Amino acid sequence: MTTFESISRPTDEKEWLATIAPPLVHPARPDFDFDVAIVGLGYVGLPTALAYHSAHSRVLALDVSARRIDTIRAQGADLLDSDRLRLAEALDRPDFVLTSDPEELRRAAAVIVCVPTPIDEHLVPDLSILRAACTTILSTVTPGQTLMLTSTTYVGCTDDLLVKPLTELGLSVGNDVFVAFSAERIDPGNAAFGHDEVPRVVGGATPQCEEEATRLLLRYVTTVHRVRSLAAAEMTKLLENTFRAVNIALANEFADICTSLDIDVADVIDAASTKPYGFMPFLPGPGVGGHCIPCDPHYLLWQLKRSRVSAPMITQAMTEISARPHRVVDRVQTVLSERGRGMTGARVLVVGIAYKADVEDLRESPALEILDELIRRGARVGYLDPHFDSVALAGGSSLAGIADPAAFDADLVVLHTRHRDTDLSWLDDRQIVLDTTYRGVDVAHRVNL
Ligand SMILES: NC(=O)c1ccc[n+]([C@@H]2O[C@H](COP(=O)([O-])OP(=O)(O)OC[C@H]3O[C@@H](n4cnc5c(N)ncnc54)[C@H](O)[C@@H]3O)[C@@H](O)[C@H]2O)c1
Repeated sequence: MTTFESISRPTDEKEWLATIAPPLVHPARPDFDFDVAIVGLGYVGLPTALAYHSAHSRVLALDVSARRIDTIRAQGADLLDSDRLRLAEALDRPDFVLTSDPEELRRAAAVIVCVPTPIDEHLVPDLSILRAACTTILSTVTPGQTLMLTSTTYVGCTDDLLVKPLTELGLSVGNDVFVAFSAERIDPGNAAFGHDEVPRVVGGATPQCEEEATRLLLRYVTTVHRVRSLAAAEMTKLLENTFRAVNIALANEFADICTSLDIDVADVIDAASTKPYGFMPFLPGPGVGGHCIPCDPHYLLWQLKRSRVSAPMITQAMTEISARPHRVVDRVQTVLSERGRGMTGARVLVVGIAYKADVEDLRESPALEILDELIRRGARVGYLDPHFDSVALAGGSSLAGIADPAAFDADLVVLHTRHRDTDLSWLDDRQIVLDTTYRGVDVAHRVNL
């Protein structure tokens, strides 16, 4: 087996196609209708399906949600502009098939699973969706198929959910079917790093599995880095996102220190970033959202807890991160009281509620907790974010976005997320702006978190 090795796709397209075109090694491999099936067409799966298709693969795109399929067909999914173009093109083609029927998976040479791996309210991994997807692919598995998990998960999961059950079905992994793990690294909304240009780490259940998975990935990514095992590939993703979580917690702590010493943390981070080695900038903010940083480290912590292994630094970072939205509300209260206002009845406008700029994704967004807590403490709350008409609040009520921020007449504006198209021209110098992004706005009464 080749280990710890990076392999790049040849730049010459003909040479590359020659590399990937040969059939897989299994002698009983049928003539599959699709080169790859993507299971789960969300923020990860849909761009992946489109990337494969634009790299000349025949793609079966499967989602259990008929509504999601309709949204994709109507071209209403939240995508980068480049992926919107790819989708418009793919929808007209017979080699790009959208379906909700899992039976179709039998027709695909490879099946890539891109379903969510959230945590529950007790911060325990919720594997039900991934387990259900694996049960589906086990029920349709066909000799010769390569099965690859890309959802972030605990170490040993691919073995538990695929390798062991396949063996129990009497299939020889590495001969009859091929199993691999390669975590997705996509950064939704970020056009700076092309999906296909970001190297992928892959681990296989056997050397043959690793070989097949590498070939599958090289259909659309330029570089694949192979590791020794499924477990090493699973752990690599947990390291990447735990590294981010710990460093964001540190950036938040530095921001608080700078605020207490009346130093602008953005200046300090910019200055430290001039060092060409040994420093990497992380930005403080109102908390973290999305499907990765608030969740993934808990997959590791949950596993460690079961084995009685402690990880105090990671635990502390995650505690700090989850407390951050409340700190925003505490700061709102302090800033208002410094100006002789109480929280009760104060008009607070939250600008930008997505978990990060330029995405229509509210999952785990700190803004949700901030809105709830402001309301709980008696504020009259509005939000401005053209990406969301309304949001669901704790307790089942909902809040509609406001259309005219000037007319809201806020006592305090909380800048939470600044989308590229956020118009702040209505802000005037009388308004107090609590800038949780630390660099989002330049007005007279700006205060940092
Ligand atoms: N969103 C990100 O920024 C990001 C980045 C890197 C990695 N990841 C990882 O990728 C995985 C997927 O995340 P996502 O953000 O794309 O999720 P998502 O919620 O956007 O999309 C998941 C899709 O899977 C579908 N689905 C659920 N169960 C299914 C099943 N059994 N069969 C077919 N379809 C099914 C859902 O209907 C949904 O459309 C997660 O494990 C996440 O940790 C996410």
